[in-house]
Amino acid sequence: MTDTDTMRAVVLDRPGPPASLVVRELAIPRPDVGEVLVAVKAFGLNRSELHTRLGLAEGVTFPRVLGIEATGLVAKCPGGELEVGRQVAAMMGGMGRVYDGGYAEYTCVPVAQVIPFRSALDWGTLGAVPEMLQTAHGSLTIGLDAREGDTILIRGGTSSVGMAAAVLAKQRNMTVLSTTRRAAKAPALRDIGVDHVIIDDGDIAAEVRTLVPGGVDAALELVGTPTLPDTLRSTRVHGVVCFTGMLSNEWTVENFYPIDYLPRGVRLTAYGGDAGDLPSAVLQEFLDSVEAGTVSVPIDRTFDITEIAEAHALMEAGTAAGKLVVTI
Ligand SMILES: NC(=O)c1ccc[n+]([C@@H]2O[C@H](COP(=O)([O-])OP(=O)(O)OC[C@H]3O[C@@H](n4cnc5c(N)ncnc54)[C@H](OP(=O)(O)O)[C@@H]3O)[C@@H](O)[C@H]2O)c1
Repeated sequence: MTDTDTMRAVVLDRPGPPASLVVRELAIPRPDVGEVLVAVKAFGLNRSELHTRLGLAEGVTFPRVLGIEATGLVAKCPGGELEVGRQVAAMMGGMGRVYDGGYAEYTCVPVAQVIPFRSALDWGTLGAVPEMLQTAHGSLTIGLDAREGDTILIRGGTSSVGMAAAVLAKQRNMTVLSTTRRAAKAPALRDIGVDHVIIDDGDIAAEVRTLVPGGVDAALELVGTPTLPDTLRSTRVHGVVCFTGMLSNEWTVENFYPIDYLPRGVRLTAYGGDAGDLPSAVLQEFLDSVEAGTVSVPIDRTFDITEIAEAHALMEAGTAAGKLVVTI
């Protein structure tokens, strides 16, 4: 690689429709000490990038190479923290928001955002994992303190985070109830081990309580504030609801009066993650389990970087079940 080398990157000049995502030749970034240049092999698509494209994200400056995560090989690491050629995942910490992110052939990130691993899995599979695993793992551990044998309701169950949470919950021998608004997606949920699929019409607490008398131990809210009161009503006294996602694009509660809003004794918390919440050992153990065939990675479809607008349109349509991945 020379200083004149360029790379293909997906640039968003300003918020707009999927066609606003343009593949362009840019200079390959040059890492300083404390940074890592990653040769990107694959990246997963995230709702956060949809928010950015739609102009809903705060604190994002343009033009911007989107992408809050990427998976690939260390190309340069001036500080020597990671050896060149090491397999790594990079995520969060402002990637694709305040500095250029993972929708590119190379991405340059602070070393704190990089997690090393070793795996023989294909890059399409590896690219799907980091962000959804980090969010699902963080929600189950930090957010919900989930225990073996607990019951869990996953609201927004067909999202990539929701499906990853179901996979992790089944690893913990939990009973999993997952929602979708579309009955056609129920088989995709059953395939990853979900025990009860609930078709979400916005009012499911009674059905949840028929399946789990008294209410679930834990609930992961990924749809947002429109469904949050019903999710709280689905949860037992001293059970916990963790607000992690807002697929509805609604995330605030007007005139929050706790005694009216919260059912007695039900606990409400929230989770917002960073790379540090996914220890290298947890990522490695998950990838090893995938390689051994004991765990599946919920992937809906894999694209080429030139198909980024089509991939974003599919994410916006909400018809996927699982992760959308781009390989390079
Ligand atoms: N807190 C954090 O650290 C963190 C990190 C990453 C992601 N997140 C959040 O987690 C959520 C899931 O992200 P993702 O990337 O996994 O999503 P995703 O895979 O793009 O989710 C797609 C699914 O969302 C459902 N959906 C779409 N619009 C909806 C609506 N208006 N109401 C209800 N369901 C809707 C659809 O399911 P059905 O058609 O089957 O109903 C669709 O299959 C997002 O809100 C994201 O912002 C949070």
